[in-house]
Amino acid sequence: MGVLKRYGTYLPISEKTPSVNLEEGNTPLVRLDRIGNELGIELWGKLEGCNPSGSFKDRGMVLAVAKALEDGARALVCASTGNTSASAAAYAAHVGIPCYVLLPSGHVAMGKLAQALIYGAKVIAVDGNFDRALEMARTCAELKGFAMVNSVNPYRLISQKTGAWEICESLGRAPDAHVIPVGNACNISAYWAGYKDFKAWGKITELPRMIGIQAEGAAPLATGKPCPNPETIATAIRIGNPVSAELAKAAVAESGGEFLTVTDDEILAAQAMLASKSGVFAEPASCTTLAGLVKLGHAKKLQQGATFVIILTGNGLKDPDAALSQVGEPVRIGAEMEELLEALA
Ligand code: F0G
Repeated sequence: MGVLKRYGTYLPISEKTPSVNLEEGNTPLVRLDRIGNELGIELWGKLEGCNPSGSFKDRGMVLAVAKALEDGARALVCASTGNTSASAAAYAAHVGIPCYVLLPSGHVAMGKLAQALIYGAKVIAVDGNFDRALEMARTCAELKGFAMVNSVNPYRLISQKTGAWEICESLGRAPDAHVIPVGNACNISAYWAGYKDFKAWGKITELPRMIGIQAEGAAPLATGKPCPNPETIATAIRIGNPVSAELAKAAVAESGGEFLTVTDDEILAAQAMLASKSGVFAEPASCTTLAGLVKLGHAKKLQQGATFVIILTGNGLKDPDAALSQVGEPVRIGAEMEELLEALA
């Protein structure tokens, strides 16, 4: 059951809203005990890479596209660091409307680029960063009358709240702390709103602390300073001017949480740790979460025994280059048993 069917009564849809469904949402919440035990916490990972286009974006895109169709939109447009464009292109293909995507040239992971192209979107590589591409996409939406499906589209945030609802339903409560990568800052804002909904509806009693993680080279919220030239290996969150900055700051302040930065080396180390000690392969941006927990652990600032959920926002397969950059080559042998036995020794 997709997000619109599962949570329709809590979302702004009516009989006039076309049903759109790629069976998004309902992603696994997996207990990561080997790592949790090492850190002294109860650790859960929300595997958003299991969504149909391989990232959390599908949760918000399904409602944004349904509402765009309801409003008679002719086409979709977005700017993206990769995942939004993959998701928009997938849903546009599913419902049969054109999709235009603006990407920061040379800074989008290979898998995401392949997705947008094979889903049939018109892909435009802009010689500028994501923040500039987003300005151009907004102007394009106005000039051409296309539906803008970046997170400036309010339906994206509303429908991404479903991630928080699912976590509370799985755990029977909210976690003590919710740890999430922050780029354009929509997802942290959506999760906070989702948790607050569940509290207001009497389904949970306590709210989590919201811990937002940014890459050191793209950390306008963590540092409180603008970042005109963002740079990080976690290309998904290579963003200097987050659209939902104010909502994200409110989420962290109201929840008694914090913003943290992690370096590219810490992100890659966390990616390898997550994969090799839990069997979960997530893309670099997602692994900022574990990198943040490791950093808090080293500083003796992790509340021992508490329940932490990390949002693993995108599938590791989207960015094979990042993973391959830190592992060795396979052992090569001839097709002889002696060579195999030698290699195993
Ligand atoms: N993780 C991944 C894998 C992402 O793709 C993004 C954002 C984020 C985290 C950050 O989420 O922007 O809501 O704070 N990707 C956008 C894109 C910007 O274009 O795909 P956020």
